[in-house]
Amino acid sequence: MASLFSVEQTLARRQKVIAQMQPNSACIVPAAQLVTRSNDTEYVFRQDSDFHYLCGFPEPDAVLLLSNSERFDGSDMTLICLPKDQLAEIWHGRRIGADAAIDQFDLDHAFSTDEIEDILLDYLDGHAHLYFAMGQHPAIEELLMTLLQSLRNAPKQSRVAPASILDIRPMLHEMRLFKDQAELAIMRQAAKISCVAHTRAMQFCAPGRHEYQLEAEIHHSFAMQGARSPAYGTIVGSGDNACILHYTQNSCELKSGDLVLIDAGAELHGYAADITRTFPVSGRFSEPQKQIYQLVLDAQLASFAFFKPGCTFKQATDKAVAVLTQGLLDLGILKGDLAENIEKLHYRQFFMHGLGHWLGLDVHDVGTYKIAGQDRSFEPGMVLTVEPGIYISPDAEVAEKWRGVGVRIEDNLVITETGHEILTQAAPKTIAEIEALMTTQVKAVEMAE
Ligand code: GLY
Ligand code: MN
Ligand code: MN
Repeated sequence: MASLFSVEQTLARRQKVIAQMQPNSACIVPAAQLVTRSNDTEYVFRQDSDFHYLCGFPEPDAVLLLSNSERFDGSDMTLICLPKDQLAEIWHGRRIGADAAIDQFDLDHAFSTDEIEDILLDYLDGHAHLYFAMGQHPAIEELLMTLLQSLRNAPKQSRVAPASILDIRPMLHEMRLFKDQAELAIMRQAAKISCVAHTRAMQFCAPGRHEYQLEAEIHHSFAMQGARSPAYGTIVGSGDNACILHYTQNSCELKSGDLVLIDAGAELHGYAADITRTFPVSGRFSEPQKQIYQLVLDAQLASFAFFKPGCTFKQATDKAVAVLTQGLLDLGILKGDLAENIEKLHYRQFFMHGLGHWLGLDVHDVGTYKIAGQDRSFEPGMVLTVEPGIYISPDAEVAEKWRGVGVRIEDNLVITETGHEILTQAAPKTIAEIEALMTTQVKAVEMAE
């Protein structure tokens, strides 16, 4: 299968950045660096999202340079990357090297990091502006500051340092917020893989297994479908662990009678899926669990009406909050008047996070939520999550039957011209779907053991 992530796309994005920069500007976008885990071992390498978006070059320690200076006839794309090195490649893995990178990634020039200081100094010289993400790449930033100072100190050699440093992020992150058809194809696939993994986890679940074994089943399923890594730390929270929003300990035994919440998504070509499903360990919801679950689902489905061009996260959130608060009142978990409970934010004891977020190369993706202080409207091509929840702490002052119940339901949507497309439809979600899938499976596991 041809790669969904292509050089043509990254080239077009670099051209777009070059066209949008102020005249006579340079731009520097560093790759990620390896992070030490313990002596001589590193965490699995993950490329910097901005660098990946513009370049696709898969190695650490590289730097992408762009320019629209007349010196380069208005456009230049240069890569500085680790040099070919027989010994380093025996120990740590193959390197592409500067010569091969030019062709493979459609660049104008490429150089070795051995020459990084001289290359950067020459490159920056004479530009009026430098675009860079200050505060995000400490090592390169320190080198840049030194080099800029030496340019400033050398007027007699006719050296000229850029007079201003501009933030590349607003421009780049606005581009990243809107996904093109190629990106959507990748995200559909990441979502599809993740739906299969969630379904498998429901089928594999049984009392006596552990949270980390469901995590392993999910990761195995991702890999068997072609996605090596999860897009973020997989959350498997059973019982009241489901009330810990970013629980990643995943160490407890699954108990019959408890719910288990799984928040997991595959990463594919750098793009994330982000799905949560909550289901009973035994395969059957208790009555109180059913009531909370159905309420969260009703809130999610009601909010979907607002995921269309022209509407805002605020409108969708207000709808979800109204449904959740009315439901909590009906169940006797909240007391009093609907408007007052909403105004005084009483529902926040049980729903304490946002309704959703942008989704893309980062699971909490880049892009602003407001424009000039106003909530921004949805537009076609935006991808986002919708993830209401109710989390009733084990020591909440509510009837015993509700305590320790945590439910979140999370789906991924693309805004289209006329509304939205749900990318994660294939993961079972209604009570009937989940019970039908699990009842057969849990019985089979019990018989086998
Ligand atoms: N998986 C993190 C989140 O749902 O935002
Ligand atoms: Mn999530
Ligand atoms: Mn999310």
